[in-house]
Amino acid sequence: MTSSRDFFHSRLGFVLAAAGSAIGLGNIWGFPTQAANNGGGAFLFVYLIVTLLFALPALYAEIYLGNQAQSNPVRALKEACKDSVPNLGKYMGIIGLCGTVMMLSFYTIVAGWMLANALSPLAALLNFSDLSVWLSTSSTTRNLIFTPIFSLLGAAIIHQGINSGIEKWSSRLMPVLLVMLLGLIVYILQQPGAIEGLKVYLIPDFSQVMEPTLIVSAMGQAFFSLSVGVGGMMVYGSYMKKDHDIGKLVLSIASLDMFIAFMAGLLIIPALFVAQHAGFEVFNEGKLIGEGQLIFNILPQLFSSMGSIGLFVSFAFFSLLSIAALTSTISSIEVPVSYLVEEKSKSRNSATWLVSLVVLSASLLIIAFFDTLFGLVIQVLTTILQPLSCLFYFIVVGWLWKRGNKLVATNQQNHSKWLALWGNYLRYCCPILLTIVFINVAILN
Ligand code: PFF
Repeated sequence: MTSSRDFFHSRLGFVLAAAGSAIGLGNIWGFPTQAANNGGGAFLFVYLIVTLLFALPALYAEIYLGNQAQSNPVRALKEACKDSVPNLGKYMGIIGLCGTVMMLSFYTIVAGWMLANALSPLAALLNFSDLSVWLSTSSTTRNLIFTPIFSLLGAAIIHQGINSGIEKWSSRLMPVLLVMLLGLIVYILQQPGAIEGLKVYLIPDFSQVMEPTLIVSAMGQAFFSLSVGVGGMMVYGSYMKKDHDIGKLVLSIASLDMFIAFMAGLLIIPALFVAQHAGFEVFNEGKLIGEGQLIFNILPQLFSSMGSIGLFVSFAFFSLLSIAALTSTISSIEVPVSYLVEEKSKSRNSATWLVSLVVLSASLLIIAFFDTLFGLVIQVLTTILQPLSCLFYFIVVGWLWKRGNKLVATNQQNHSKWLALWGNYLRYCCPILLTIVFINVAILN
């Protein structure tokens, strides 16, 4: 089975693909809006801490499991648990598959909004003003057209395979994303009002640091942002030749992810203050007036008040978000596709279409019952499923996986002090700390 597997051809290709998975709407939309609502720099501070304490170790555990198993997440977890709790790994792997479908079901809807908004200024430039307005106005018809278009874009990359699809496209799109982001930051920071936003973002309001809601939001954001807990990073780890220095790779991925989230804050929060300076209502009683309104109302209004340059800025901004969403989408699609190819003997092509069809049906369900399902699916995924799966990975790597688990074996033989320390951190500290956070959240709710 493993002999016919495709691989990432270079370490850089792997890092760009994994960073592409991590860097998504969560960084460019989620992080800055959460920061603006939760004490600016205070949120940044807590986010950094929870990323280092939990999300980065979870990323390590996930990539390590996939890399050692060299197979899809369901098999990887099944093999790791087989000597201690047979079948538990398999069921948790299948729950992860459901997690990817949940993630894709809402993510492709939002990504479709980004794509439509990116096309809107182009339509305006070509003098199709009705079309331009339609593209930038939320509607069920627009959802019904752009959600499938976005799923198709993801499927078109995935069906080309790991090297010619995921690696090639991530290596092309990630530099474009960085250039667009930098260009937008330079432009926005020169606008009146931007410096005030910069201050709010960079100077922490430490009175908010211990707020429980801030800690919970920062944790959900950290897990979602590093794409851990649904198997996306595990499957990417499995496409890398065995025994690379995972620690270094994980550090590169997490640094890129945090860097882009930080940079997105440098764009969005000053942009809000530029909008406020231009007379738009942005805050209400110290809180932002709705996350959706921010991206889809306030910023487009700001762009259109900039005249024709605003059309280019708007195009660059929403293209940036669409690219970020695309590289994240493909890592999620790959999880069930790899399962169907390796465990159910499907061809890559038919597995890709099958998964796309299931995701599209789930998206249509959300579109049909939008008010009830949209927020609920996001909440269940990010605050329950992802953190619980990460807790499970820590327990697998630290306790359940015996044969072939070099982390724990090295730990016992004390080959390297650092690795032994790291092994113990994953084994004892991560599960205990995460459980404490869970109990606190349960009490709070
Ligand atoms: N990390 C992505 C973001 O920040 O938007 C979201 C994501 C991608 C979550 C892939 C989970 C996943 F498997």
